[in-house]
Amino acid sequence: MEKHVVEECLSEPVSQRLQAVHVHAEIDSTNQEAFRLLEAKTAGNHLILADAQTAGRGRRGRTWQSPAGGGLYMSLLYHFSADSAQLQGLSLVTALSVHSVLSSLSSMEIKLKWPNDLLVGNKKLSGILLESRIGDSTLPIVIGIGINYALAEDVKAEIDRPVVALNELNHSPPGREELAAAICSQLIKNIDRYCAAGFAPFQSNWNANDRYLEADVVIDSGNNRLIGKSLGVDAEGALILQTAAGEQLISGGEIFPSLREANGV
Ligand code: BTN
Repeated sequence: MEKHVVEECLSEPVSQRLQAVHVHAEIDSTNQEAFRLLEAKTAGNHLILADAQTAGRGRRGRTWQSPAGGGLYMSLLYHFSADSAQLQGLSLVTALSVHSVLSSLSSMEIKLKWPNDLLVGNKKLSGILLESRIGDSTLPIVIGIGINYALAEDVKAEIDRPVVALNELNHSPPGREELAAAICSQLIKNIDRYCAAGFAPFQSNWNANDRYLEADVVIDSGNNRLIGKSLGVDAEGALILQTAAGEQLISGGEIFPSLREANGV
């Protein structure tokens, strides 16, 4: 990837919101690099991209396979005012931002899996990892986005779940520089809206694209499992689960379509 191409694809208002764009041929993790920038007291918002990651990380301690050119690996290090950022809603807003860009490039339907996966059928197209550490007057959040762009069959076979890549949905996808710029622009636009009005303006868009709306699901929150029917998300982005004991609001965990899949068989 070429840094100058990313910069040329960013509109002037979006460029002004970024202190710098960083493009690495290979790095451990773009999220980790964002934290290094923070530790070095580098000011402002940063977009960090890599062609390959050697220690790409996923949610819940998983690794994110990141072969050179196989994916788009990007992190936005963004400073929020301390009271504006609610990680839960922001994580869904990020997924909606990626969804809106990728949907415009695909004739196949892309769905959302709460809290922030993008699926085509049952195959994963993109995953998101938000991380934060406490700052002082502003709250820096690292928004990490991984998109399967062009995965070789042998790499796909190594991943422990069904995956799909963008080049299977669009035979001439935009370059990764253009894609990264489009996603960064959409994300910053949505962050502005989220900071002004919270998650409520995004709720109906989420529910319209929710893969498991009205479906029976299992929620695994690490030490606890709940079974129920998904009723979509509320105005804060929490998942509403109709259980035998009544409606419950879920603010963290992973959805599975069945106990069998929750057990990994
Ligand atoms: C998931 O488990 O679904 C989240 C995957 C997030 C992967 C991206 S790739 C860019 C950024 N850097 C990382 O190390 N992880 C995120």
